[in-house]
Amino acid sequence: MFITFEGIDGCGKSTQISKFKTTLDERGISSVVSMEPGGTNIGQAIRKILLDVNNTHIDPLAELFLYEADRAQHIKEVIKPALEAEKWIICDRYFDATTVYQGIVLGHQEELIEELNHRATSGIKPDITFLLDCPAELGLKRIEERDKTCKKKDRFEKESIDFHIKIRYGYLALANKYKDRIKIIDASLPEDKVAQKIKEIIVPYLPKI
Ligand code: TYD
Repeated sequence: MFITFEGIDGCGKSTQISKFKTTLDERGISSVVSMEPGGTNIGQAIRKILLDVNNTHIDPLAELFLYEADRAQHIKEVIKPALEAEKWIICDRYFDATTVYQGIVLGHQEELIEELNHRATSGIKPDITFLLDCPAELGLKRIEERDKTCKKKDRFEKESIDFHIKIRYGYLALANKYKDRIKIIDASLPEDKVAQKIKEIIVPYLPKI
């Protein structure tokens, strides 16, 4: 199974991915957790360029190609081998992020994004995508809180509230288009409730214990 998690910054993907991994571990299911951008060594170098706050002048096409370059490498090194080994793969963002961020919000042509996504992934699509949906204000508040304790904001997290609102509605529109694959989860609920909702959707796919 190939599962992806998507949502605006601060929606709680990392927390939910780690809870999801625990659910799989408890059932004895072998899984790999990865992310885009940055799921390989080459991808980590690309991620640095993409999220660097000094790179606000990056050319939009260069930016798009870097996400797709990261993805092509990730498919080859991580996703394909995991699927071939019949492992579950859990990925923090995948091609939907490019469709929403670079396509719907930043304005690249839909056909171009679809073509590049298809080329970079060899047509490999997730079985299920969890869209952790919450208001942009809540996502930003969570980033602020996390910021106080440790992490510095990256280039996207420094964007305005309007940008994050557009991303949220871009994801919701995409979920509406791919209703079978993309499951919308209310990420404004408490962490354990969110995890429970995800579990309810995944249970039919798990071996019985
Ligand atoms: P992410 O790894 O989710 O950030 P963090 O771990 O700090 O929460 O994503 C990094 C940023 O990259 C995020 O703001 C969305 C952006 N992004 C795109 O714009 N396009 C893409 O195709 C991907 C995969 C990510």
